[in-house]
Amino acid sequence: MPAEIQAPPNLFREALVRSGYFKLRTKLAAHGLEMPDADLYRPLFSPWDGEPSFEKDYRLVKDHTLCSRDRCYILKMTLRQALISQGDVFECGVFRGGTALLEAIAVDASSSRKVERRLHLFDSFPFVGLQVSKICWAHIDVDIYQSVRDCIQYIYPKLIPGGMMIFDDYGFPSCPGARRAVDAAFASLPEVPLCLPTGQCLLIKCAV
Ligand SMILES: C[S@@+](CC[C@H](N)C(=O)[O-])C[C@H]1O[C@@H](n2cnc3c(N)ncnc32)[C@H](O)[C@@H]1O
Repeated sequence: MPAEIQAPPNLFREALVRSGYFKLRTKLAAHGLEMPDADLYRPLFSPWDGEPSFEKDYRLVKDHTLCSRDRCYILKMTLRQALISQGDVFECGVFRGGTALLEAIAVDASSSRKVERRLHLFDSFPFVGLQVSKICWAHIDVDIYQSVRDCIQYIYPKLIPGGMMIFDDYGFPSCPGARRAVDAAFASLPEVPLCLPTGQCLLIKCAV
């Protein structure tokens, strides 16, 4: 999503965090039971707000990405699962490289599993000469109808069963074409696009 129309920070929520309101609320709601990560209930468990291993990665990428913390968290966690399977990883829409770096860190961390794979990164140049047969995960962050449609046409047939596509712009009013492209493409396919509260859309390829 273009930088100038990113969602504004939720100042009211930030003020509640700082005041200790959520800590107290969590303690009361848990009826005195010990809550792991009690600080991260704001009001629901929000690991993107400080879970240590995510925080370490996010600090490296945050100045280079338009994607918010929660969206980066969805990327990291879905990719972690996808990397159990074979197949290459794609990102379409790299811009300054923030989410691409996040993906590179995850792919690198999984490389000891001895699965041969590549991370393919695209930003506004033709898809030429690619020899890719299997894709396990793809991040589509290209804003506009035609680009999202082209990405689906190339990636979907190569996506393995259980493989995932994450569409960044699906729920943003600034990118109506992104949602239109996803809904049109999957209207006649078995997969159901799942709109997330982050504004992203998760698509998991069916096994049939
Ligand atoms: C919102 S930005 C990507 C943000 C990035 N993922 C980040 O971490 O901040 C969208 C990018 O998509 C690229 N783009 C648009 N259409 C494209 C296409 N057909 N193929 C590849 N990239 C495209 C644009 O050049 C732009 O850099």
